This record gives sequence, C-alpha cells and structure tokens, in this order.
Amino acid sequence: MSKRHQHSQSAAIKSSEITAESSYLNRRKLVQGLGLGLGLRAGIAASASLLSGALQADIAPSNMMSPDEEITPEKIATSYNNFYEFGTGKEDPAEYAHEMSIAPWQVEVSGEVEKQGVFDYTELLQGLTVEERIYRLRCVEAWSMVIPWQGVPLAALLQRLQPTSAAKYVHFTTLHRPKEMRGQRSFFSGIDWPYVEGLRLDEAMHPLTLMATGMYGKSLPNQNGAPWRLVVPWKYGFKSIKSIVKIHFSKREPKTTWNQLAPSEYGFYANVNPDVSHPRWSQASERRLPGSLFGSNRIPTLPFNGYGEQVAGLYAGMNLKRHY
Ligand code: MTE
Repeated sequence: MSKRHQHSQSAAIKSSEITAESSYLNRRKLVQGLGLGLGLRAGIAASASLLSGALQADIAPSNMMSPDEEITPEKIATSYNNFYEFGTGKEDPAEYAHEMSIAPWQVEVSGEVEKQGVFDYTELLQGLTVEERIYRLRCVEAWSMVIPWQGVPLAALLQRLQPTSAAKYVHFTTLHRPKEMRGQRSFFSGIDWPYVEGLRLDEAMHPLTLMATGMYGKSLPNQNGAPWRLVVPWKYGFKSIKSIVKIHFSKREPKTTWNQLAPSEYGFYANVNPDVSHPRWSQASERRLPGSLFGSNRIPTLPFNGYGEQVAGLYAGMNLKRHY
C-alpha cells in the first residue's frame, strides 16, 4: 500500500483476458481436507472439543462465484501476502510468519458487550458450525484472488458475546508481539502498531462476513492470519484483519490503521468501488492472480466486489464517494 505498490491501470480490458474456463473445487476433497486441517490445528491448540466439533460440523457450502472464475492456486494465496507485521514485501509473511507462536491464543472481549473477559479462541468457537465460503479477495492495491475459506459467520460468534444495545461498532486488533513479528520492530512500515480494524455492527453481522479459521481445507497458515482472521469480501482486503487478539464493541467509529495513516487514501468503509479511484491509481480494474506468461490477467472491478446484491442495502442513502 506504499508508493512502490502502485500499479498503472490505464490498459484497456480485453475480453480474452477474462478467465473463460470454469473450474470448481473438488468438494469431497475439500471436505476431507477440512476435517484433517482443523484436526491438526486443534491438536496444536490442545482442544479436543474443537476437534470433535470441527469433525462433526456441517459444512454448509456457500459458493457465490460465477462459474468462469477459477480458484487461485493455494501456493499463490499462501506466498503472495500482505501482513506488514512481518515486513512490507509480498514474500515476507510466508518467510517469517512461522516466528509467530499461535498456541495458546487468548482473545480479549471488551466494551459494550455482556460476555467480557479473556478467552481461548477455541472456547469462543466451540459448537459453532464451520462453513465453506469461496470468495473474491480484492486488495486496494488492485490485485485479486479467489480463495476457499473455512470459518464461522462472524454474526454467530458476536451474537454469543451478546453486544449491548449501545454497541454500534466492533473493533478488532491484531497480535502485538515485536519479538516474533519483525515488521513491528522495523521503522520502515510507518504503522502505529498494533494493526486495528473495525466494522459497523450491521456490517459485522451481515451473513457474508466470516471469521476464517482455515483455507483450502487446512488450518489457516500463519502468513494468512492464523489462527483466525476476518474476511469481509465486499471490502478492500485491508479490512480483513489477521491474527485477531481483541474484539471490542463501541458506540463510536474506531480509528483504524490505514485510515489513520493516510485518510485521503483509505477510508473507514473501504467498500470495493470501481468508480472511486485511489488518489494514486484507478480502481476500475484489477489483476486477477496468477497472471500468465503472456501478461497480467486484468479484469474489470465490480461494485462491492460483486456482492452488491447482498450488501448494497447496508449503505442505502449514503454517499459512497464521500464515505469511501
Ligand atoms: N492484517 C494485518 N494484521 N496486517 C496486515 O498488514 N494486510 C491486509 C489484510 N489484513 C494486513 C492484514 C491487506 S492489505 C490484505 S490485501 C489482506 O490482509 C491480505 O490477505 P492475504 O495475505 O491472506 O491474501
């Protein structure tokens, strides 16, 4: 998101650049992998209850992709990452995120909520149904992927915490542990750690919003935000905060990391919007990863990243050019 990630967006979009072949994930394989992946993760977290819960879980499919969009190869989704806690290079997270210890993983719940306290994240997940969601991920830097996530609807998790009637926003905070996160020791990122993100409560409760615990049928790799991270598919990727250790409910809009760093470039809402350019590049199209030998796979960007039918109602009456 710094200057060096700027992309020129002037090239016209040829229809031949849009992926034509349909590709579906082998569901049975994925479901088998899911059991295995969560099982391994539960083993690390030493939580037998999560393990049995995950294996018995109903895996509700929720695939809203159009048939001509291919799932991004797992190798790419787990090696081309943004996780500035481990460095600003795309390869840094895959190289260094193993230095982060994720067991045990404690989460603090606070603010306008009944169930306050510090919990092991497995305790908060216990009994919730793990679902599969294949979503587009559109980074504000104008690249995108299609990723099969496993996780729980955020609404199910938040409901069991019982927000009070005063709660209007929910804030999320990433782990702050400079000893294990080399990007937090570096002066180059310019970020005031820890990384903080937030949603309006109705956005957080929307059925598309996911708290992911896995991808590609395996537990979430550290570089993708282990052991759990947000996935908000209609917003730019920076809203999908990784490795969450705090959930805080409030009356007021939170101050979020990228918005504070560059308010004219990154808004609080950050809904994917081809009509609102970033000050330094257009958002009208995106590079769908991977590219090929013949060039980048450039496709048009869709309003709300293609999820407008489901989410546009959340913003009825709002000027989305002002609330970018
Ligand atoms: N969360 C934290 N804590 N730190 C980060 O630097 N980067 C964000 C988001 N979540 C980021 C983060 C950005 S800009 C994007 S595009 C996505 O993570 C990338 O997710 P991925 O690496 O799993 O594709």
